[in-house]
Amino acid sequence: MTSNELLYEARTLVSRSYSPYSHFRVAAILEDADGNIYGGVNVENSSYGMTMCAERSAVFAAVAAGARTFSRMVIYSPDGPPVPCGACRQVLWEFCDSDFVITVASDGVPARDFRLGDLLPEAFQL
Ligand code: THU
Repeated sequence: MTSNELLYEARTLVSRSYSPYSHFRVAAILEDADGNIYGGVNVENSSYGMTMCAERSAVFAAVAAGARTFSRMVIYSPDGPPVPCGACRQVLWEFCDSDFVITVASDGVPARDFRLGDLLPEAFQL
């Protein structure tokens, strides 16, 4: 899929975000090497630390479905550019290399592409 098509999927999915505490709605679409897509949204909890980000939700859904090799991720929020947090960067690093491209999109600002290697320099790896 093109990045615009992936963004369309993310815009559709974001209505599923469960974010009653922050009101910051996020959806992530992860595409695998075969062109299959997997979606995730942020899922918050009244015990705030239990919250799960959209990006990790997408990775975990993809791995549970049998995917292991990914081509790109598009992240969308209508509430501001959802640049991935450190935990999500580390989880992506488990399956993706430095050149993996992450598109961050919101409304009213240009979408930005980031290389995972730039977001997570000197990544930890066993
Ligand atoms: N969040 C994400 O899901 N992804 C990001 O890239 C940034 C932050 C969520 C976590 C929490 O539910 C809310 O956004 C505010 O931090």
